[in-house]
Amino acid sequence: MAARTIVITGASAGLGAALAGLYAGPGVTLGLIGRDRSRLDDVAAKARAAGATVTPGCLDVGDAAAMGDWMLAFDAANPIDLVIANAGISRGTAADGTPEGLRNFTDQVRINLLGAANTIEPILPAMRMRRRGQIALISSIAGLRGLPDSPGYCASKAGLRAYGEALRAALRPDGIAVSVVSPGFFETEMVKQFRGDRPFTLSLARAAALTKRGLDAKRSRIVFPAILGLGVRITDLLPAWIGDRILRRFRFHIAPR
Ligand SMILES: NC(=O)c1ccc[n+]([C@@H]2O[C@H](COP(=O)([O-])OP(=O)(O)OC[C@H]3O[C@@H](n4cnc5c(N)ncnc54)[C@H](OP(=O)(O)O)[C@@H]3O)[C@@H](O)[C@H]2O)c1
Repeated sequence: MAARTIVITGASAGLGAALAGLYAGPGVTLGLIGRDRSRLDDVAAKARAAGATVTPGCLDVGDAAAMGDWMLAFDAANPIDLVIANAGISRGTAADGTPEGLRNFTDQVRINLLGAANTIEPILPAMRMRRRGQIALISSIAGLRGLPDSPGYCASKAGLRAYGEALRAALRPDGIAVSVVSPGFFETEMVKQFRGDRPFTLSLARAAALTKRGLDAKRSRIVFPAILGLGVRITDLLPAWIGDRILRRFRFHIAPR
């Protein structure tokens, strides 16, 4: 059965907003979370125009208490079929070569990894009781193998991937499906800040369509573009020094600061 009640974090822009547009329709209830009120209201207005009922939540996913309260209240009123933990930030090596540093590392782990746990953990007991539901975690191909220019981003996304793999094995007997989504580059504000290599960059519409298609099929692992996912996985299978040498030739996630 198609999901009718869906929560999306990071819904005010990029992939989250595009997914809200794809899922919006008559009979669908959306909970849309982001920090920027006016961008969130724009996305909510478009979803309502498409026939959806929308509850916007102007929240920082890193705020565990606020997320817990909001998710529990939303789920009590509208039992959630699908939650997409998508909110994320990306830092990386600065254009002048300055490494990410501890502050950026901490911010990425707080939002990308802990933010996802703050979204999902509060509603797990209710999903388990209902014995149904679906969870999607938007990780990254950068979570498949550490990349030299974005150690904090890669760590946050690898952590998210491991969290999702663990949840999937644990929750399947309870009737809950878990998908880990590992995209390569796609065109959004996030990717526009990068100055480095962006091989096989997809359009936002394509990335959103591939994500939704994989989630509709309840696929455990959704990796795109396949060629980039394969390349990174092969690099990871090589002796570490060879993989490191290959990856040093590319400059990923170099952001002006
Ligand atoms: N674009 C890519 O090439 C790419 C590749 C692989 C994976 N990803 C992942 O895909 C996801 C979406 O990326 P995107 O490219 O669509 O990014 P984006 O255009 O920068 O949008 C990020 C979204 O996350 C929200 N967000 C950021 N921090 C938040 C916080 N603390 N609390 C609540 N919401 C927050 C932003 O909204 P507010 O600013 O309103 O809070 C925005 O809605 C991210 O997890 C990203 O890491 C992206």
